[in-house]
Amino acid sequence: MSKLSEVIISNHKLLAWVEEITKICKPDDVYWCDGSKNEYDNLCKLMVDKGTLIRLNDAKRPNSYLCRSDPSDVARVEDRTFICSKNKADAGPTNNWYDPCKMKATLTKLFDGCMMGRTMYVVPFSMGPLGSHISHIGIEITDSPYVAVSMKIMTRMGSAVLDVLGETGDFVKCVHSVGKPLSFGEKDVIWPCNSQNIYIAHFPEDGAIWSFGSGYGGNALLGKKCFALRIASVMARNNGWLAEHMLIVGIEDPNGRKTYVAAAFPSACGKTNFAMMQPPAGFDGWKIWTVGDDIAWIKPSADGKLYAVNPEAGFFGVAPGTGIKTNFNAIASCRANTIFTNVGLTDDGDVWWEGLTDEKPEHLIDWKGRDWTPNSTEKAAHPNSRFTAPASQCPCIDPDWENPNGVPISAFLFGGRVSKNMPLVFQSFNWAHGVYLGATMGSEATAAAVGQAAMRRDPMAMLPFCGYNMADYFSHWLNIGRQLANPPPIFRVNWFNKDENGKFIWPGFGENIRVLKWIIDRVHGQGFAVESPFGFMPRYEDIEWKSLNFSKMKFYELMMIERLAGNVEARAHEEHFEKFFDRLPQEFIHERELLRSRLLRSPEVWNLFKN
Ligand code: OXD
Ligand code: MN
Repeated sequence: MSKLSEVIISNHKLLAWVEEITKICKPDDVYWCDGSKNEYDNLCKLMVDKGTLIRLNDAKRPNSYLCRSDPSDVARVEDRTFICSKNKADAGPTNNWYDPCKMKATLTKLFDGCMMGRTMYVVPFSMGPLGSHISHIGIEITDSPYVAVSMKIMTRMGSAVLDVLGETGDFVKCVHSVGKPLSFGEKDVIWPCNSQNIYIAHFPEDGAIWSFGSGYGGNALLGKKCFALRIASVMARNNGWLAEHMLIVGIEDPNGRKTYVAAAFPSACGKTNFAMMQPPAGFDGWKIWTVGDDIAWIKPSADGKLYAVNPEAGFFGVAPGTGIKTNFNAIASCRANTIFTNVGLTDDGDVWWEGLTDEKPEHLIDWKGRDWTPNSTEKAAHPNSRFTAPASQCPCIDPDWENPNGVPISAFLFGGRVSKNMPLVFQSFNWAHGVYLGATMGSEATAAAVGQAAMRRDPMAMLPFCGYNMADYFSHWLNIGRQLANPPPIFRVNWFNKDENGKFIWPGFGENIRVLKWIIDRVHGQGFAVESPFGFMPRYEDIEWKSLNFSKMKFYELMMIERLAGNVEARAHEEHFEKFFDRLPQEFIHERELLRSRLLRSPEVWNLFKN
């Protein structure tokens, strides 16, 4: 950590901008983060002294900390997230638009003096491996040391980034304040925030992000959802690449062949589990390698293929439900050097959350700092509690995860959470049909009032993260396919089908490798499939069932499509797309009609036994 007088900054644009923000925010001090271990340790110590961090027992969890946020500041706030493009239509019907001039006026007032009594940290970071042609640089200015240390885990952060930036390099301007100035020598609180006044504003035309009021997660670590998805999706559209809410995995088969796929699942669909899956018994010689668990930046290359990097350097994983049995690799990733936020603190100075172990500790301190026992009515950990852990600590991290050239993507997967009439897996007929499958995907949310499952459409899992008009985003996807010599095949998957008793039919977790194997077979032109109204599907005999007792009947239940339900789905697509008006790609209207025609010609209940 250094004062400006101690660092050499050759980028005049950066210096001028930091000066401008300093004038507005009026911090007591300005520190430039160098990204060193020493700096990290010092900042953590500072927060321990202040009470923001609790150092965990070094014998159990070396060099790790627990943080408890204010209970009003625990998650991303989508209704306070704004896209401030010049034209409202460019933000599109799925984003909160705000006039950029008005937003700047509002923010200038809010940020005026907002860092009084605090230190302003200047955090240079690279999204993607340092110096890779797929990577991009951002500078985050923040008054939160928690953000500065989290950025050290989640990105490549520090002086080396300034070297890459050089004298003339461009960067995304990220300004963040917890919105709690200590104006008159006021005493600080453990987790300063301003939950009544949150703004997370994106200016896609300026490549700028301003975030005020929250210190938590994607609201405050601006490299993640704000830059790597909302701003980067606009950069990607402008420059012919893809910035996606996708995990990236390499699947190694027993012959040592590795095939990389990128997969989009809406939040809370087990993305991290999928990204770190352990193949079950019977799949000897198979291995899943993790490149990324949340975001993929994918660029076409001169060889006509798509190459992807994970722009992040760490995992900001949801803790509850992540357990030694359900995700061994995630648990191993946070065994040390990790910051835990809003989980329980055990009596021996370690952490615990629901789902970590089958057995519950007899006593702990919950995420709100209160005594907790298994008889407590409230949960020990907040449902959105997190571990912030270096990706390099993941036992199955892919050896090529930092390859500056990225990894070649051979298939895309789109998956939602649907309980009926959405088969376990099928392959699109072609790229445009695959884009349509991604654009219509969604997850069921229980509409409590009527007790019915209602579908929340979440195109490509990008609904909260696309920084521009989603209809233009669909067109961009269609265009990318046109530019590729051999576009990767696209698959739809759904792990969440339920039987008539409401029980999941598919075991999921490591067993998903059976689906991946069929996908890989298809990628390499080896797998069989039949044509269904929805797409190409595997038959029972096309899936590897070794060591899993799964009957043909159950498989049939997973894969069947009722004609009526299929038609209802097609009608729902029509409604879903209505809001995009004339910007919707024409191809989608035809794709929908083709789906309808296929459903019309197929039997009442389409199933694989009839083929
Ligand atoms: C996340 C999300 O936190 O998608 O990754 O909400
Ligand atoms: Mn995510």
